[in-house]
Amino acid sequence: MVLGVSGGIAAYKAVEVCRRLTDAGAVVSPVMTAAATRFVGETTLSALASEPVRRSLFDDAEPIPHTRLGQGADLIIVVPATARLIGAYAAGISSDLLTATLLATRAPVLVCPAMHTEMWEHPAVVENIATLRRRGVHVLEPAAGRLAGGDVGRGRLADPADIVAAAARLLDRRGEMAGVGAVVTAGGTREPIDPVRFIGNRSSGKQGYAIAAELARRGATVSLVSTVDLPPPPGVAVTVVETAAEMEAAVTAAAASAGVVVMAAAVADFRPKATAATKIKKHDGPPDVVLEPTPDILAGLCRRRRPDQVIVGFAAETIVAEGPTLAELAATKLEAKGADLIVANDVAAPGVGFAHDTNAVLIVGRDGLRSNVDLTDKAQVAAAVVDAVTRLIHNQEEQDQP
Ligand code: CTP
Repeated sequence: MVLGVSGGIAAYKAVEVCRRLTDAGAVVSPVMTAAATRFVGETTLSALASEPVRRSLFDDAEPIPHTRLGQGADLIIVVPATARLIGAYAAGISSDLLTATLLATRAPVLVCPAMHTEMWEHPAVVENIATLRRRGVHVLEPAAGRLAGGDVGRGRLADPADIVAAAARLLDRRGEMAGVGAVVTAGGTREPIDPVRFIGNRSSGKQGYAIAAELARRGATVSLVSTVDLPPPPGVAVTVVETAAEMEAAVTAAAASAGVVVMAAAVADFRPKATAATKIKKHDGPPDVVLEPTPDILAGLCRRRRPDQVIVGFAAETIVAEGPTLAELAATKLEAKGADLIVANDVAAPGVGFAHDTNAVLIVGRDGLRSNVDLTDKAQVAAAVVDAVTRLIHNQEEQDQP
């Protein structure tokens, strides 16, 4: 693996991370930025790593070190990741060997930021981190604690032991889904009233994209059926649709050969019975929009499912104290749809669901699974959903053994 070190005070902790990685049997190629060498000596890291430190695109005997490092790595870890490094990576600027290596890899990347609280909370850094996460980069959040100069706050590098544990988890997941075809839906459908107006909902598609990215990272062949125009995650084929009917056609075709279907999209339950061919003029309105039910794609897939297929539904609910709990609603929906898993969330809770970069969910399964994921970013929620899918697939494989 490549251990990238950028120039912050926490660079000294990269030495311990390096030590722990090599102790665990990893082959570690360290890459330092010029600023990193001001904080920690090259000699120290070279002595503990499996190869000498590399620093430059030009000084190496190899003509193109970044492509060899990027293509050959099973994992790249950046410890610490400074605001500058994060910004360059998010913007696709390869100004040194480390950023060039990050752009020249298809391996999983774990970024471990460390900086002062003001910098970590600056909108530029917040947006760059969100961009990296959307592209499937793993971010190990900094902790709160003592910072350089005696300040206290959020921005302290995650504990070296936690960094090594996160790296081990990422390596364990590699190839877990190899050979599995997956269909994921994302976004909210739009049901046209006339050529300019539609009935829609607040779904942003971010959770569906995060699940597609996570499945692809674990080796699945992913087909994403989406109503939103976000950049596709690496290696994921996207079909853009608009209505529930178009989504049903695309999902049905793709699901025929898929082992996993994740219906993360917010599909309209009702659509206008008739769509006006031309724009309804104000003086002709207000129109009487008569609605009819849309096909329930998830329930249909579950009715026609193959025994080896794992089907996941979502439930966006709004919970009130006097009403049923999220767990009760999730259990009812699991039964009603006939799905293997339901991922339920309370979209009225702060930071949860539509349009946010964060989510909090309850995953319930037909096999009795009941797993709570507290408020976290959508990539972590995606990892928990894919963990649950993986367990079901592997359980099925075990049952199929003679
Ligand atoms: N879904 C679907 N087709 C529809 C409506 C929903 O496939 N026409 C899927 C969604 O993608 C999601 C799950 O079903 O995975 C959500 O179900 P939801 O619409 O919330 O459940 P309903 O059965 O409509 O129940 P209610 O709206 O009453 O909660």
